[in-house]
Amino acid sequence: MLVLGIESSCDETAVALMEEREGQVQPALLSSVISTQIPLHRLYGGVIPELASRNHSANLPAVLQEALEKAGRRVQEVDVFASTAGPGLVAALLVGNTAAKALALAAKKPFIAVNHLEGHMLSPFITRPQGLTPHLSLVVSGGHSLLVDVRGTGNYTLLGRSRDDAAGEAFDKVAKMLALPYPGGPEIDKLANEGDPNRFAFPRPMMHEDHLDFSFSGLKTAVLYTLPKLTPSGDPHDLDRQTMCDLCAGVRQAIIDVLIHKAMKALKKTRHKVLAVSGGVSCNSALREQLKTACERRRAELVLPPNSLTTDNAAMIAFAGLLRARAGDFSPLDTPVDPNMKLAGAQTRK
Ligand code: KG4
Ligand code: ZN
Repeated sequence: MLVLGIESSCDETAVALMEEREGQVQPALLSSVISTQIPLHRLYGGVIPELASRNHSANLPAVLQEALEKAGRRVQEVDVFASTAGPGLVAALLVGNTAAKALALAAKKPFIAVNHLEGHMLSPFITRPQGLTPHLSLVVSGGHSLLVDVRGTGNYTLLGRSRDDAAGEAFDKVAKMLALPYPGGPEIDKLANEGDPNRFAFPRPMMHEDHLDFSFSGLKTAVLYTLPKLTPSGDPHDLDRQTMCDLCAGVRQAIIDVLIHKAMKALKKTRHKVLAVSGGVSCNSALREQLKTACERRRAELVLPPNSLTTDNAAMIAFAGLLRARAGDFSPLDTPVDPNMKLAGAQTRK
């Protein structure tokens, strides 16, 4: 079975081809092409939805072509077309979604509407040789921070989520406050590597509360109040480089401490022996390292996607599509996109 996935929910236009081969647990990722619009949106300090949508339309044909060429396949050979249907920016979602439906219609092949969060959530298993297994999932992207008990494909129980800003959003908002370029996560990560995480004591909200929800919005307030104490102007451009690095290290460590503490608490609660971490924030270098140590201590297996599959990509959409196709769970062509789509099959348990 050959699956073609399309992702266009935010500022990455991506197409991937994945093939299931008989007798092999893991499908083969034949190609994964990502055209990022980050340099364009960076000029405005964040994603401009209309620009994103227009650029998806302009870029998609070439990205599709390149993905097919790299995979050495023709569009006629594709068995299933999958695309992100939400959550995301509605006009951006519509581009990839409509393209996948049109291809499916023309080729008389089935279509699958994939939840972007499910794509991230399952992405660590694309490269795990033993395949998908019941696990605890920590999804940390720009829009979401979720802890999910995954018992199987489509069998998800939401254990915790951010009550305000997502982890990635916290990185991005603090970076903006520090006059660092969009997206803030990678910038803060880089500077933090040269900083002292203990110079500034930033809050770890909700860390010791019993539930598994997160809250990160207090971090930007803490940074906002710290800036005028460091420079009379309050202007981050006036900070010396070391102070900037120390601020970044303090913020990064505060976010990491909360994420790891809650993930370990959830592992204990669910008794899962496998923790999978995904989404853009999961490519944070210090988070990856500290997760490894924490999981070794708990004797849990840590499953991380390679860095190239942490931020938005279509391989995760093709993979989620393939698992759905295996179960014969196809979507009608009139399935709408849903910018606020919730994790399908997820029940809330606190
Ligand atoms: O998963 P993703 O590509 O998009 C969403 O679905 O939201 O995640 C993007 C987020 C951004 O907030 C970005 O700042 C963050 O991931 N990010 C990072 C790093 N690289 C990307 N956050 C922390 N450290 C990084 N190295
Ligand atoms: Zn994403």
